[in-house]
Amino acid sequence: MNRTFTMIKPDAVGNGHIGAILEKINASGFNIVAMKLTKLSKSDAEKFYQVHSERSFYGDLVNYMTEGPIVAAILQKTNAVDDFRVLIGATNPAEAAEGTIRKLFATSISANAVHGSDSDENAKIESNFFFKNDERF
Ligand code: CMP
Repeated sequence: MNRTFTMIKPDAVGNGHIGAILEKINASGFNIVAMKLTKLSKSDAEKFYQVHSERSFYGDLVNYMTEGPIVAAILQKTNAVDDFRVLIGATNPAEAAEGTIRKLFATSISANAVHGSDSDENAKIESNFFFKNDERF
């Protein structure tokens, strides 16, 4: 079993899609091993997306991610990182495949409904960012 980390982003939470997204996640064989509804401060969002700090969209991304509540969760499944990225679809919802979470629920490349870790290493780092190495998970 492997793990990945996800956030349901402010657009999807605000548009009432938490339930539908979690249903798709479960139906695709992922177990939710930790989950919380929370809100990012500006410094939380800056740290979480530090890797993008040189990108032109960094400021907009930080502002957007602090606009409203998010759901943070750790998901478990064989091949979790890659399978979850298939389930969510391309970063830009205009390019996301039919049936993917971003195709169904995202509104733009910034407001793209969900985050998914891009490697096992980042899945651990991102999970610990929200769940602080909590041994219960
Ligand atoms: P996410 O998977 O959370 O990781 C970085 C985020 O930056 C990405 O989803 C997008 O929501 C956001 N983003 C905003 N603009 C761009 C862009 N032009 N290219 C890539 N990512 C972008």
